Amino acid sequence: MTQVLAIANQKGGVGKTTTAINLTAALASNGRRVLLIDLDPQGNATTGVGLDKRRLQKSIYDVLSGRMPVIEAVVPIAAPSAAFQILPATRDLTAAEVALTRSGRAENRLRELLVPVRASFDDILIDCPPSLNVLTVNALVAADAVMIPVQCEYYALEGLSSLLGTIQEIQRALNPALRIDGLLRTMFDARSSLNNEVSSELIMHFGEQVYRTVIPRNVRLAEAPSHGVPVLGYDVQSRGALAYLALADERLERLAGPVAAQAPQTADRMASPERSG
Ligand SMILES: Nc1ncnc2c1ncn2[C@@H]1O[C@H](COP(=O)(O)OP(=O)(O)OP(=O)(O)O)[C@@H](O)[C@H]1O
Ligand SMILES: [Mg+2]
Repeated sequence: MTQVLAIANQKGGVGKTTTAINLTAALASNGRRVLLIDLDPQGNATTGVGLDKRRLQKSIYDVLSGRMPVIEAVVPIAAPSAAFQILPATRDLTAAEVALTRSGRAENRLRELLVPVRASFDDILIDCPPSLNVLTVNALVAADAVMIPVQCEYYALEGLSSLLGTIQEIQRALNPALRIDGLLRTMFDARSSLNNEVSSELIMHFGEQVYRTVIPRNVRLAEAPSHGVPVLGYDVQSRGALAYLALADERLERLAGPVAAQAPQTADRMASPERSG
């Protein structure tokens, strides 16, 4: 069954786009048919997979404004060992955001537009903007689950409460089936005592909702977008690439259910701050 996963946190620069691109590629390398939706007017996921925003003839703006079905606006990406599709974004998306804010029933727009393509994909990942605006609400209404990247810094928990409030509100009013898939620790430095303290606090508050897989701070992850490829196509041996492969394993394990979740997977082998020190 198709899984729509929104990657959201209104806090900026926490690794949403890096996670969206690299989890997409990691799932695709597992043979999954993946669609990545760039729902951020910054278009970082779009450029990160090698597309030139200035040359794009079609984007999610055309889809949200009703000019084109999703299937006509998607672009295939032939990343090495991991082919997937992207619905790209350009700055025009800001205009769609304004139009959506003005129109009625605007929250369901993306969900409705995805209906005809859902069956063509195993996973649809949505990269959200750093805001709790109408675009993020559209993503959360369209999604089956939400993944929340968290940088283990001082204000991390504070920002989470408004996101969790929004998620609860959407569960109540618009999408009762929405689940929190998990909280993902990103840009983690195992030597940082602050990172470790905040990580422990996250686990105390959210328990098993925190993914076992930890994404380390890794320069390869920061470099890959400037080459227009996911890290898997840039340095497959890097700690960043291995972490996103482990995250894909853990995600698939969670989808498979509680029995499968007991089987040891790659994620267990990843350096976790509690174990590696
Ligand atoms: N694990 C990591 N190691 C090193 N650098 C990283 C890592 N994850 C992300 N970065 C870098 O940190 C910056 C912010 O990451 P990213 O763009 O993924 O965050 P974001 O949450 O999507 O930001 P925004 O809120 O602006 O959309 C980028 O320059 C990215 O390359
Ligand atoms: Mg981003």
